[in-house]
Amino acid sequence: MATEQKQPSSLEEELEALLEVERFEPPEEFRRQALWNDPAVYEEAERDPLAWWAKQAEALHWGRRWEKVLDDSEPPFYKWFLGGKLNASYNCLDRHVEAGNGDRVAYHWRGEEGEERDVTYAELLADTKRFANVLKEHGIAAGDVVGIYMPMIPECLVAMLACARIGAPHNVVFGGFSAEAVRERMEFSEAKALVTADGARRKGRSAPMKAAVDEVIDPVASIETIVVVRHTGSECPMRDGRDVWWHEAIEAADPECEAEELDAEHPLYILYTSGSTAKPKGILHTTGGYLTGVACTHRYIFDLRPESDVYWCAADVGWVTGHSYIVYGPLANGATSVLYEGAPDYPDKDIWWELVERYRVTVLYTAPTAIRACIKWGPEYPGRHDLSSLRLLGSVGEPINPKAWLWYHKVIGAERCPIVDTWWQTETGQIMITPLPGITATKPGSATLPFPGVAAAVVDEDGQEVGPDTQGLLTLTRPWPGMLRTLYREEERFVNTYFERFGRETYLVGDASRRDPDDYFWVIGRVDDVINVSGHRMSTAEIESAIVSHAQVAESAVIGQTDEDTGQSVCAFVTLEGSLEGSDELVAGIREHVATRIGKFARPRRIIWAEDLPKTRSGKIMRRLLRDIAEGRELGDVTTLRDPDVMEQLEAKIKERGDEE
Ligand code: PRX
Repeated sequence: MATEQKQPSSLEEELEALLEVERFEPPEEFRRQALWNDPAVYEEAERDPLAWWAKQAEALHWGRRWEKVLDDSEPPFYKWFLGGKLNASYNCLDRHVEAGNGDRVAYHWRGEEGEERDVTYAELLADTKRFANVLKEHGIAAGDVVGIYMPMIPECLVAMLACARIGAPHNVVFGGFSAEAVRERMEFSEAKALVTADGARRKGRSAPMKAAVDEVIDPVASIETIVVVRHTGSECPMRDGRDVWWHEAIEAADPECEAEELDAEHPLYILYTSGSTAKPKGILHTTGGYLTGVACTHRYIFDLRPESDVYWCAADVGWVTGHSYIVYGPLANGATSVLYEGAPDYPDKDIWWELVERYRVTVLYTAPTAIRACIKWGPEYPGRHDLSSLRLLGSVGEPINPKAWLWYHKVIGAERCPIVDTWWQTETGQIMITPLPGITATKPGSATLPFPGVAAAVVDEDGQEVGPDTQGLLTLTRPWPGMLRTLYREEERFVNTYFERFGRETYLVGDASRRDPDDYFWVIGRVDDVINVSGHRMSTAEIESAIVSHAQVAESAVIGQTDEDTGQSVCAFVTLEGSLEGSDELVAGIREHVATRIGKFARPRRIIWAEDLPKTRSGKIMRRLLRDIAEGRELGDVTTLRDPDVMEQLEAKIKERGDEE
């Protein structure tokens, strides 16, 4: 009889055991060496928040020092570092070159087909100056909006920094958006120029960008110039008098371009994000406060040592995470980053880990949805590579479920790396609720505590703070430097959306949250009609409006359905015109239509044909019931429905057809 052998426990069992651990203290070695390892930072900030932020602002280069840290005379229109002058591109580039760090790599760029390009601070500065001159030659001046619609290539960052250099706010549109969405965003912001590429690559194929833009951009009369980077070699017709090749323009440009000294409150960029109506919101960020906010959070939350760390934020530049934590924060701190163009599963599912090994990445910042994908693919992919360079891990974009947190901790971090689960938004500009890796004991699934100087509260419908373990609305109760200043050209909407409910000094986040008895925040998710699919923020109204613009559709209601992989997925209830019957072709047609109107990432995963939608007597769609029915839950109260039979019909439909992917 074989002797009984002790089986090594499986990963599952080990993770199961870790589920019992209530809190994870910062590893002693990490704590000892951390930039911040004394909880006194919280007290210092609390004693005098303005002095605290001023101290953080001092880490930047100011052409002229501010006279007043915060002007709060007209809430919610706060102004930071009043009277101060600075330039974001100078702070991100010139400063480091002048300090003798021009040869430091700013980005290890990796193309999808394995190409590599190391871009130093000196090179980035040289290109930025030239491109700033290109913009000027085409009539762009301070205050003019420049659209940017590009893949993850260094030129995208050069374009952003060149805009910052001359004070032209950029309006970056994520490369996964459709040309139609670009058009809309250019129109709303009256962009004067657009910088794009001939095409984008995705998993061995390429898709035209410039040619797609050409088809829709003509009605945007404000666009005078389109600059095109040759990237994929895709077919790319150029129009005389409007279109310019990047490489030709850069080569011809004057290499010298002084950074303009701009007011601290000069607009740095607009970034459109989804709200609860179909029209995206143009979040406006300005220069001094924003740069202070992103630089200091980036430095201390990621415990950054610019001389030795290799930092990788695996987001896309087109989202706020990319703006704050690929571009402005890391560059302001003189960091060396990885910039990766491609997908996480091409050429194989171990590409991320290959990059970590190749560049000796020390700090990795990604989203729960990516971690969940890795869990699904299996630990053998990270297992193929040496990940021992990693010392700190970050998460952003959606609540991280404890299982994913533990997997990240164990399989990627080898139980050695603290995890910072960072909560923030496009609007906040900077990370707001987060552990400090050398100080905070973490609990899987909790973003823990507000960053020093930040004040947050969970309140009930009347604005009263709720007790421990009670769900309520998350609010931010004190201004912070990186906060949005307004919604571009929609001041009233800005006030109404964020500062109406609880007064002009309390920012309404739009998330539900609770605090535990240790005061840790547990962010639950959105309370408005915004959904979060793989960390992509979307508006149900925007998707509905895209679906309804399909010729055969009469009405639609979109909900976010819980999804194991993507957090939420788009589920659309659709009523067709007249007596049309739903079909596979129509499913495909509607999905394609949404891809064209918004982008592929917004396509409904599930379409449910509905003869009618559940509405109240006043005609309001009851989404709560739709969510219940889509997720197979017991239906809540249906007595307020105009026609209670609708729900029965819908239930029958769902039973009859099953899931429609
Ligand atoms: O619901 C919260 C969720 O993402 C929303 C903000 O989305 P967006 O503006 O696209 O910015 C994403 C990147 C900062 C928030 O209202 N969210 C973001 N981070 C977290 C999160 N939810 C829970 N935990 C987080 N760490």
